[in-house]
Amino acid sequence: MNTVKTIGISTGGGDCPGLNAVIRAVVKSAILRHGWRVIGIEDSFDGLIWPNKRRELTLRDVGGILSRGGTILGTTNRGNPLLYRVVENDEEKVKDFSGDIIRNARELGLDALVVVGGDGTMKIALELYRKGLMLVGVPKTIDNDLNATEVSAGFDTVLHTAVDAIDKVHTSAESHHRIMVIEVMGREAGWIALEAGLAAGADAILIPEIRFDLGKVRNCVRQREQEGKKFTIVVVAEGIPLPGAPDQDAGEKNPIIPRSGGAASWVGDVLARLTGRETRVAVLGHMQRGGPPSPFDRILCTRFGVAATRLVAEGKFGRMVCLNGGTIGDVDIAEAVRVTRCVNPEGELVRIARETGVCFGD
Ligand code: F6P
Repeated sequence: MNTVKTIGISTGGGDCPGLNAVIRAVVKSAILRHGWRVIGIEDSFDGLIWPNKRRELTLRDVGGILSRGGTILGTTNRGNPLLYRVVENDEEKVKDFSGDIIRNARELGLDALVVVGGDGTMKIALELYRKGLMLVGVPKTIDNDLNATEVSAGFDTVLHTAVDAIDKVHTSAESHHRIMVIEVMGREAGWIALEAGLAAGADAILIPEIRFDLGKVRNCVRQREQEGKKFTIVVVAEGIPLPGAPDQDAGEKNPIIPRSGGAASWVGDVLARLTGRETRVAVLGHMQRGGPPSPFDRILCTRFGVAATRLVAEGKFGRMVCLNGGTIGDVDIAEAVRVTRCVNPEGELVRIARETGVCFGD
């Protein structure tokens, strides 16, 4: 028999369009379908540590938020509650708040927590679940790098934003006969660069999963010039290895994740030197995380939110909702965080890109 009366919901990690759509779906289905109360836990797991960071969410609270970017609950991609930095007596200490979180959840009467997050948040959720917190996960990340789901909330919208930006840069590149280098986010995964690059007709796409040589990109620029095309669009993933970064293929540890803009400015400088052509750089940065979610993301987030409350009703804790083959399902959170979902260099998308002349610099 289902004994759930109250659930919590939190959003963790970097924000993305669609988080509010998930919150709305969870609150609506919890109240309307299941008759539960919902407590909003603010700033990721912080709301289960600090009493002033939680509040009841009613149907009124989620009115009008479906189309809004960001998250009404706030978020953080710092402050892992298992390794939380606090200052005590002028001294910085690292504390594990998992005991407080589980105790506070019990005192609040939470029968379950819906955790909306990417790989970092899901790893924390998994540890808390193993320590006794009943929770289910909803995948969100513009990077689309969570394993076991073909798409996470927010990815479709970032593609719209990136493609729109690349289309705009395209006409400028063409008018000025320039090389334009556009950097997109994605950490160690090249999904945004690959899919936005494909959709926007990029001439070269550089991603962390494919070793590249900028000499090959110079050849691509030259080849295009011989064909009468005096401009080139190069889309670069922020996580490509930069000179001096440890060589992961050679087993070197701790790869350096470049700061925003580092990848594009390096590629831009080298290409300008190698080609002698005017080159400009555009870094899309955090604009990729904002704006209203696309219709696809609004529907996906609504499906994910409703599926999450169903998991709670069925008592399927430690599971994350997912989308595979267009169908909503669920997987162990452990499976979702087992590996980073990266681009397969032999996969269909890379193959069709190559077959339509896209240069990967290899
Ligand atoms: O994981 C999402 C993401 O936007 C990455 O693509 C990017 O590298 C990172 O977060 C940026 O994080 P921050 O908001 O801390 O600068």
